[in-house]
Amino acid sequence: PQARLASVGVFDSGLGGLSVLEALRRELPHESFLYVADSRNAPYGNKPEDWIVARCRELAHDFARVPIKSWVWACNTATGVAVHTLREVMPGLIGREAFPIVGLEPALKPAVLGTQTGVVGVLATARTLASDKYRRLRERAFSDWAPLNPQARALRVIDQVGAGFVETVEAGAVSGPQVQALVHAAVAPLLAAGADTLVLGCTHYPFLADAIREVIATCAPRQPVALINPAAAVARELRRRLQAADLLAPETGPAPAQCLTVYCSTAPVESSRQIFARLLGYGVDVHLWP
Ligand code: SIN
Repeated sequence: PQARLASVGVFDSGLGGLSVLEALRRELPHESFLYVADSRNAPYGNKPEDWIVARCRELAHDFARVPIKSWVWACNTATGVAVHTLREVMPGLIGREAFPIVGLEPALKPAVLGTQTGVVGVLATARTLASDKYRRLRERAFSDWAPLNPQARALRVIDQVGAGFVETVEAGAVSGPQVQALVHAAVAPLLAAGADTLVLGCTHYPFLADAIREVIATCAPRQPVALINPAAAVARELRRRLQAADLLAPETGPAPAQCLTVYCSTAPVESSRQIFARLLGYGVDVHLWP
């Protein structure tokens, strides 16, 4: 019973995971969350794999000192290269076998099942796109999912790094001419190639959804284009995993007042508070992590 009341840890290299946290809170209003942003070290997407794995190990040790029952590793880049390591080390660190870890990966399956033009654009960091995990996912797009959609028989998956996207979101800048120029540079070629489905394969990118829609309105005004954000599906997956491990907080009655979300960052708290507020649309207290 004690374990059921512990928090769900939500981690991201920075602030992108806030786009997932919102969906988690909607799906699971009876849970408490501990959000940790490694903003001092963001972005991860252009760092070497070894560095990311070592950093995730350090973070696992820090997280193991607080009462958490599960994790959402709300960072595609860190999931892509380190989730196996985390699954190995975490049960030992917290002394419990049942410790669900939900990672993030580009949502290729719904994209391939839904495309009408047979062209899918995947926006993600260079590290995510180079990971073995993504390579395997990409293979499945052709072998498992394309055959299920008659419009995807000649499937094309176009990988595209969102150059500068993470940095601009970390700075709290999600609109304006400079942001629009960055987004245009990444998205316009995908639209020119006929993509009607864009996978947001980095949790920072949903914060740029309005800027992406503006590029779509300019470059492909007659072509309906879907943006695939996996946050709601991740939230449902977390619910299933907590339920299966008997870790779901009791859900009777209204959400109890002690359901908290605690926000932490490895970056200085004063500037973090301002940027968290800008992205969330409301002010929160931010604590220094660890
Ligand atoms: C990054 O830190 O570069 C991006 C995080 C992600 O891939 O979600």
